[in-house]
Amino acid sequence: MTRAQIDKPPTVYSFSTARRIVAGARSLDTIGTLAKSICEDVRRVLIVTQPSMTKNGAAARTAALLAAEGIEAVVRTGIRPEPTQENIESFHRALDGESFDAYIGLGGGSVLDATKLLAVLRTNAGGIEGMLGADRVRCAGLPTLLVPTTSGTGSEVTPNAIVTLPEQELKVAAVSSHLLPAAAILDPELTLGLPDAITAATGMDAFTHALESYLSNKANPMSDMFALESMRRISRGIIRAYRHGDDLAAREDMLIGSMYGGMALTGAGTAAVHALAYPLGGKFGIAHGVANAMLLRHVMEFNMDAIQDRMRPVAQAMGIPGADDAESEALAERVVDRISSWTEQLRIPQDLSAYGIAERDIPELAAAASKVTRLLQNNPKPVSVGDMERMYRRLLPR
Ligand SMILES: NC(=O)c1ccc[n+]([C@@H]2O[C@H](COP(=O)([O-])OP(=O)(O)OC[C@H]3O[C@@H](n4cnc5c(N)ncnc54)[C@H](O)[C@@H]3O)[C@@H](O)[C@H]2O)c1
Ligand SMILES: [Fe+2]
Repeated sequence: MTRAQIDKPPTVYSFSTARRIVAGARSLDTIGTLAKSICEDVRRVLIVTQPSMTKNGAAARTAALLAAEGIEAVVRTGIRPEPTQENIESFHRALDGESFDAYIGLGGGSVLDATKLLAVLRTNAGGIEGMLGADRVRCAGLPTLLVPTTSGTGSEVTPNAIVTLPEQELKVAAVSSHLLPAAAILDPELTLGLPDAITAATGMDAFTHALESYLSNKANPMSDMFALESMRRISRGIIRAYRHGDDLAAREDMLIGSMYGGMALTGAGTAAVHALAYPLGGKFGIAHGVANAMLLRHVMEFNMDAIQDRMRPVAQAMGIPGADDAESEALAERVVDRISSWTEQLRIPQDLSAYGIAERDIPELAAAASKVTRLLQNNPKPVSVGDMERMYRRLLPR
């Protein structure tokens, strides 16, 4: 069954993103004027960040740039990678109503997602739980300015924020236009020191956003444009950025590529790869990008008969040999082979048992993934619980 037979492509589609995007090496230098452009009266801001940015001086530099515009900046860490709802809420409580005019998120997707939620916790009664799902944030939050340091989630341009719910052993999203930032700054210099393994995992996450969006049942002419350009840049940059972390051009390709990936998923949504990845993160703590990278090849192979007709533009964007004239079946195989070759070169594990996962865990993982209907409905082919079990099993030693 093809994508068109399952679900006609939508005829009404929309797109929204950060109000303003500033990009390029040293674009962080504009943060003071950008904060002022949110409101002339911005006087005091909170910088939510992570230890790597206090260690490498980027948090202090950001505070100094703001001070030069007469803005006092308070720096706080304490958001953990892939944060739980409780982690974000206790960070919020610890602020104890201190007064801020805006929140700045300086970090990976975990910090950016948390910053978006912290900003709406400020203005909405109740906790995060009532905000989970689509359009459940009632009021606009404090204005946010988001500065990604991974490439990445694209969170700096999406209306999504993801939290881990350990008691449900799952990750869930809040999706609301109130989570969109006032501004995003994409400075590739901030990603130069990203450790190899994080470059690999976050880069594969970004590529997965673009590919899943392009193949999604909700794909549309706007999301397609972002998805293809995202895949083109990431295909060009991912191995270079991993092998030569100080290659600024490769880092910029990855950062812009991940932003486009975020824009693509805003319009079209991710699908089965992300749905199957969520329980691996929620129950076993596997990093989001690693979980996606492990599953991508297997979900692609499962989807193959439904996606072949969409693979030529993907192969072209990825620079696959013969992309213009080879048979679509052969091309689709070459795309999957390229993805497998990347995961090998990026040393991404292909074995769930390395994370303590065994055959006995598979039914529970598949049952949890089957609850992620928000994403599964975007998959180009229906996925049964049995199909999911089979895909997880391909990641166990035979
Ligand atoms: N909002 C969205 O649209 C969206 C999309 C995809 C994923 N996500 C979520 O984002 C989270 C993952 O974000 P991520 O993949 O960016 O990883 P992350 O933010 O969890 O960061 C991973 C690790 O890298 C460190 N790090 C980040 N930047 C660094 C740098 N420049 N130098 C050194 N260390 C650095 C972090 O401190 C952390 O230890 C997950 O919770 C995932 O579900 C959100
Ligand atoms: Fe993702």
